Amino acid sequence: MDVAQRDRLYLAREEAAEGMQIARSQGGFLFDQHGKKYLDFTAGWCVGNLGWGNEEIRAAVRDFDGPTYVHPDYLYRGWAELAEGLAEIAPGKLTKCYRATGGSEAVEIALQVAMAATGRPSFISLAGCYHGNTIGGRSLAGDRETYPNLLPRCRHVKPPLDDRAADRVERLLKGEKVAAFIMEPVVCNLGVLIPSNEFMLRAMRAASAARCSLWTRWRPGLAAPANSSPPNISSWIRTCCVWPRRSPPVTRRWGRRW
Ligand SMILES: Cc1ncc(COP(=O)(O)O)c(C=O)c1O
Repeated sequence: MDVAQRDRLYLAREEAAEGMQIARSQGGFLFDQHGKKYLDFTAGWCVGNLGWGNEEIRAAVRDFDGPTYVHPDYLYRGWAELAEGLAEIAPGKLTKCYRATGGSEAVEIALQVAMAATGRPSFISLAGCYHGNTIGGRSLAGDRETYPNLLPRCRHVKPPLDDRAADRVERLLKGEKVAAFIMEPVVCNLGVLIPSNEFMLRAMRAASAARCSLWTRWRPGLAAPANSSPPNISSWIRTCCVWPRRSPPVTRRWGRRW
């Protein structure tokens, strides 16, 4: 049986695999099983920001000589140092990190933190967005036909992100008890959808007035080609620009679980 046959038989997928078979990767290139070279424009769906086969990273993994596992309640130098480094580059007053194994889990934690910190039940997100595979992440996308039991208080804003969409965001933020408004600054998962500066400014003002957290790395000028830089969407957590002034009361309980 070849790889394609095995894949068809044993791997569950939403869509059939594309024909290309990856054997190795180096820098910005992928190589198939015959050694044919491809320039990886997708960067692994934007998670290959440091390039493939990066020698510094490979050496660090090879040379790692620490514990195989650390119980979450114990102290561990690596966790504390990583958290400190992330706090240094995070915007505003964000200084605490939760440990997560990937993006879906990080988003899930963040949804729970937002609800716990604000005492509010609702979320706003973009219709059809992708924030992970958990029920929370799926609820942000809003596909109730496939998943009838999604979280109930998720409100969606349909692209395009124009004045009408901004009107809806403002209405929702005024009328609902919104814990957080979640969106990618450049919505890669909706085909590189770039919101206008006006939309983002109105959304940020409305979120700020409602004392609601808006999770995005957007800053004025991001949408303008002249001074935009690619946002790092695989960042450790979809970052908060506006955060409720009360800090989450859940650290100890959560520290135990993660
Ligand atoms: C915006 C966004 N949020 C969340 C996720 C989920 O991350 P993970 O695949 O690590 O669970 C992704 C993954 O592509 C993403 O693009």
